[in-house]
Amino acid sequence: KETNAQLIIDAGQKHFGATICKSCGMIYTASNPEDEMQHVQYHHRFLEGIKYTGWKKERVVAEFWDGKIVLVLPRDPAYALRKVEDVQELADHELGFQQVVPKCPNKTKTFLFVSDEKKVVGCLVAEPIKQAFRLLSEPSESPRAWQCSNVPEPAVCGISRIWVFRLQRRKRIARRLVDTVRNCFMFGCFLSTNEIAFSDPTPDGKLFATKYCNT
Ligand code: ACO
Ligand code: ZN
Repeated sequence: KETNAQLIIDAGQKHFGATICKSCGMIYTASNPEDEMQHVQYHHRFLEGIKYTGWKKERVVAEFWDGKIVLVLPRDPAYALRKVEDVQELADHELGFQQVVPKCPNKTKTFLFVSDEKKVVGCLVAEPIKQAFRLLSEPSESPRAWQCSNVPEPAVCGISRIWVFRLQRRKRIARRLVDTVRNCFMFGCFLSTNEIAFSDPTPDGKLFATKYCNT
């Protein structure tokens, strides 16, 4: 059980100005009571949301020295689906996203990266698609207005969401999630990078996708 003392230790020394919490990754102003209150709320929701106690019938699809990837399917038990919802909500909160409603929720596959500290630190949502539009080089002034080609290309797997916990980034977690999707999405074949498509990528998502698809 978490105590307030723990919270203060995690948050580091009190500073004026921006503080980053070492547990939940939120950046807030410790001297601002409203900010601090928001942090306390988020902090608890975050720790609760990513805690992974292990499931009796978990579907482990990849294992690594620092964690494993668990696949959750639409007809899995309620506790698994609830975990997926909690993690997605945290990712949405961070992205400031409106809820992305999957096109066919009964075909969605969710991959969770569980760290060896029993926390969900990465999440990837994939769904079957038939076609995608290639991203063209972006206008540099407006980093969110990428241009898409208007020529559809065949694709198999759409990645509608990929998220890695802020404090665990650049450890190849996203890369391993995508590798695993390519391996598991369609039984018996390894999808090429042309057969997967990232939907509506954020600037981070685009940097990752560009790098991933070229290497
Ligand atoms: N800037 C530049 N290059 C990057 C970045 C970045 N922010 N992120 C990844 N890369 C490149 C790097 O070349 C990296 O290799 P390197 O670390 O050896 O240089 C390579 O991609 C592989 O990166 P990973 O470590 O596998 O990526 P990570 O686990 O950090 O996750 C992700 C990347 C998912 C984009 C993460 O930054 C994140 O969760 N961001 C916030 C949420 C988000 O924007 N998600 C994408 C939404 S778009 C969509 O869902 C379809
Ligand atoms: Zn925190």
